[in-house]
Formats: sequence, C-alpha cells, structure tokens
Amino acid sequence: MDLPPVGLGTMGIDDPEPIGTALSVGYRHLDTARIYDNEAVVGEGLAAGLAATDVRREDVTVATKLWIDDLGPDDVGPTARESADLLGVETLDLLYVHRPRGAYDPEATLPALDALVDDGLVRNVGVSNFELADLDRAIEALDAPLAAHQTELHPLFYKPALIEHAREHGYTVVAYSPLAGGRVGEIDAVVDAAAAHDTTPEAVAIAWATAKEPVVTIPKASSERHLRANLAAADLELSPAETAAIDAVEREEELFPE
Ligand SMILES: NC(=O)c1ccc[n+]([C@@H]2O[C@H](COP(=O)([O-])OP(=O)(O)OC[C@H]3O[C@@H](n4cnc5c(N)ncnc54)[C@H](OP(=O)(O)O)[C@@H]3O)[C@@H](O)[C@H]2O)c1
Repeated sequence: MDLPPVGLGTMGIDDPEPIGTALSVGYRHLDTARIYDNEAVVGEGLAAGLAATDVRREDVTVATKLWIDDLGPDDVGPTARESADLLGVETLDLLYVHRPRGAYDPEATLPALDALVDDGLVRNVGVSNFELADLDRAIEALDAPLAAHQTELHPLFYKPALIEHAREHGYTVVAYSPLAGGRVGEIDAVVDAAAAHDTTPEAVAIAWATAKEPVVTIPKASSERHLRANLAAADLELSPAETAAIDAVEREEELFPE
C-alpha cells in the first residue's frame, strides 16, 4: 500500500473537529477500529474535512479493524458493512483483523475478508498485533496480498524482525503508539537527539520510525499544533549515530500487551 509516513490515529478521539482539521493540514490516512466506538465521529470529521477542502475521497485511506468478537466467518461481512456505514464510506480502504484472538481462525476469517475484497467493499486487507508465525499463516490463507501489519512500534518497543518480515513479503508496517503514548520524552537517546536538532522528542520518535522502510506511523493528536508538528516530523533526518542510539534503547515497555 502507498501510505504516507504520518497518518492519524484516532483512538480516544470523540470529536469530529480534529479529524476535519487533520485533512485540511495534509493528513491522508485515518485509522480507527470498531472497538474505539468512534467510527461515526471519524466519518463525520471525514465528511466535514472533504467538504471544507478540495481533498478527494479517493485520496484518503480510511482504515478500520474488526474486533476479536467479529472474526467468525458469518460476522466479518455484516460487521464490515456496519463500519462502512458508520464511517459514511462506500469502500473501506484498509480493513484489519485487530488481534489474532477470540473468533480468529485464519482459514475461516481470512477467506471471509477475501470475499469482501471480491465484493468491492474492502480494498486492502491488513492484520494487527501479529507475531511472525501468525503473519506467515495469514499470508498463506489469504488470496489477497497482505497489505499492512499494524503493530506497536516506538523507541521503548522495537522488534526489527517484524520490519524485516514486512520487507521480505512486500507489505507495509503501520507503527501504532509511535509516541509511546506520550512517553518518548522520558528516553535519554530521544531527548538528546531532540536537543541536537532543536526539536521535540515526539518529532524524533516519528522521524526514527518513518526512516525505517517500510514503516509508516499513526500518532494520535487532538490539537492543530500537534497535528502539524507530527506531519512535519517525517522530514527530520537523524544521524546514523542518533538512530543507532535509539535502536539500542534497552528499556522495554509494551503499552498494549494482549
Ligand atoms: N492496533 C492496535 O491494537 C492499536 C493499539 C493502540 C493504538 N493503536 C492506534 O495507534 C494510534 C496512536 O497510538 P496511541 O493513541 O496509543 O498513542 P501515541 O500516538 O503514541 O500518543 C498519543 C499521545 O501523544 C500526544 N501527542 C501527540 N502529538 C504530540 C506532540 N507533537 N507533542 C506532544 N504530545 C503529542 C497526544 O496528545 P493530544 O491528543 O493532546 O494531541 C496523546 O496523548 C491510536 O490512536 C490508534 O489509532 C492501535
């Protein structure tokens, strides 16, 4: 998939305004999920943003995720249709399996997603929170190419093997919680690089992740100031030494374990 380096994570956003603002300042990838219970809000913000700008619907990637209760083969289609209705879109540009848990059965769930691609409701299929073995099995079970793996990725939680796997198999890694949920300012290597570039630790975290091919990020932001700063952060270039220092951060904190 051709996703921009910085998209918008919307978990916790319950107001359409930042979504519309995001489109007007240049965001072209919106990430939500059934479990965030805000698909209608994201849809409202999308509609307002499209009406207020000359951005075309087809230029925006709208992504959502099927929660673990909705992964039975008979539930996938109706739930995806409901998500599309709530979002006010005819096509879901990217539909993920949120976690390989609950009703997930690769040989049953993924053919149901393939059927939605054949029907034209879904453009691309993604998975989220998968490990290497889950990814291999999903690639095997899907007819459609795997388009993206959305996984936690920030300086406190970095698994290079997942990035390597994506490179080998030609899908995109969508890094979630790229600001470590707002904690990147606690990491010395990030703070040092921010001081050297006269920028913020958040900008450094985004630049660090987006420099890794094929990684894109979806920081969540509510204010116009944060929205703009995060979008601009992908242009920041860290030195090899700064990157290596952040790669080597040893403190490990997974924000969203199972
Ligand atoms: N697939 C999954 O299982 C999964 C799990 C978790 C998250 N996600 C996705 O990933 C997205 C992002 O993750 P996240 O929401 O956990 O955390 P995050 O993006 O790492 O951090 C968001 C926090 O950072 C703040 N922030 C944003 N830009 C900033 C800036 N430039 N300077 C200082 N602070 C800034 C935000 O505050 P303000 O809101 O005040 O701007 C918010 O408190 C989610 O919204 C969701 O779409 C997916």
